[in-house]
Amino acid sequence: MIPVRIAPSILSADFAQLGAEIEAVDAAGADFIHIDVMDGHFVPNLTIGPVVVRALRPHSRKTFDCHLMIAPADPYIEAFADAGADIISVHPEAGPHVHRTLQLIRSLGKSPGIVLNPATPIEAIDYVLDLVDLVLIMSVNPGFGGQSFIDSQLRKIEAAAERISRSGRQIALEVDGGITPETARRAISAGANVLVAGTAVFNGGRGNYAANIAALRG
Ligand code: DX5
Ligand code: ZN
Repeated sequence: MIPVRIAPSILSADFAQLGAEIEAVDAAGADFIHIDVMDGHFVPNLTIGPVVVRALRPHSRKTFDCHLMIAPADPYIEAFADAGADIISVHPEAGPHVHRTLQLIRSLGKSPGIVLNPATPIEAIDYVLDLVDLVLIMSVNPGFGGQSFIDSQLRKIEAAAERISRSGRQIALEVDGGITPETARRAISAGANVLVAGTAVFNGGRGNYAANIAALRG
């Protein structure tokens, strides 16, 4: 079994001190740094772009897990790759040719990920599983931190875990949204091995990050 990895979402960090916040979660035991990129069009919120990713890169050597909630995504993939992203994940709804987008990410030497919204059927991964290093199941509708975990996504995590195991490839199974120590436990039982958490990690300030992260590992 793959050990559970924790990916703090910097959406819940103090944006006035992002570099220091990343250093703090890195020191507190984060495995990945989850960076939520939103365009105010694919999702109803605006966050950060490649310029900020580049500025943050010197602050941690941990995997930069860039979750693109932008449409179209293709024109920006190279900029995120150059800025220092390690994993670049895209939603199939973000463009007509997600297979090509995933190939593009791989061709730039980065790890491609596919992300499924709560209403997107699991079958959306079937013909791209050979191209990806990560499957991300959204357990909230993307756009904001602090939402409640959608229980129906546990079945989708199970279905994804089954497909990944049948593929015989090493593919991380990540879950994003509404993760607390309690939902973490259920997501892990369903087969998730990377947990994104914003609120649950950044809650209470820097003195709490290590305990918050440890609580999610179960
Ligand atoms: C939502 C983002 C998440 C979000 C998670 O669109 O993809 O990464 O920040 O936040 P919490 O853990 O607060 O639900
Ligand atoms: Zn995310």
